[in-house]
Amino acid sequence: MESCVAAVDIPVIGSLNGASLSGWAETARRMQETGAAALEVNPYAVPGDLGVPGSAIEERHVEIVHAVKDAVSIPVAMKLSPFFSATGTVCHMLDAAGIDGLVLFNRFLQPDIDIETMLVRPAVTLSAPYEAGLARTWIAILRGHVRASLAATTGVETGADVAKYLLAGADVVMTASALLRHGRSYAATLLADLSAWMERKDFATIDDFRGLLAIGTDVHAGDFERAGYVAALSHAKETYGDFLVRA
Ligand SMILES: Cc1cc2nc3c(=O)[nH]c(=O)nc-3n(C[C@H](O)[C@H](O)[C@H](O)COP(=O)(O)O)c2cc1C
Repeated sequence: MESCVAAVDIPVIGSLNGASLSGWAETARRMQETGAAALEVNPYAVPGDLGVPGSAIEERHVEIVHAVKDAVSIPVAMKLSPFFSATGTVCHMLDAAGIDGLVLFNRFLQPDIDIETMLVRPAVTLSAPYEAGLARTWIAILRGHVRASLAATTGVETGADVAKYLLAGADVVMTASALLRHGRSYAATLLADLSAWMERKDFATIDDFRGLLAIGTDVHAGDFERAGYVAALSHAKETYGDFLVRA
């Protein structure tokens, strides 16, 4: 952390994943001391214990927020799994606990199976733009309903993907896969693409269009999503009609 902070003139955000509450707090404190401008806590864990109810996992997230927020004075964001049964409720709980940012969503590195060697292999796959839909949907729903900033992660490959997240209401857009695929300098390409689109659309600043396509706070998100589901099925019928009937 120290060498990174010294090497650049932009704020450095520390990312941490802990096991015990004291471990979360201690590591957070050390990161702040070594110059982190903010923290992203990432409770990356697949709940393999089949006896643990969802409510206990949600409560653990709240405890982590309290432990880390009590330990540091810099802003703290939490990176979330896409696999809660009520994502919006969890976001509300974390918001009430004082989280400063919500990072939607973590992408789990799932192992593959090699059918020739009959071995389980660790696999790191990079994301594709179609995967952005889930995070975009939740950002569009949450915009205006939580105090925390909303950061998008997953599926950014082009400037258009950045623009879509911003239109949905993201405060921050992140990419790991695109930089791994194209190299660090690709960040400049993404920014140039976004600027070109903004110019074409006559937007002078990002605030001129951020959240333009979020689901309004006066709209019932459940009804909105239901209408989208029905529209998508109608579209699928138009596209694959004969096939759907035969199936
Ligand atoms: C090789 C690799 C390593 C990663 N390491 C971390 C990590 O240490 N901590 C973390 O929070 N996310 C990590 N991620 C997840 C990314 O930060 C990001 O959330 C995820 O890949 C989805 O975004 P993307 O579509 O831009 O890749 C990693 C992803 C990849 C591909």
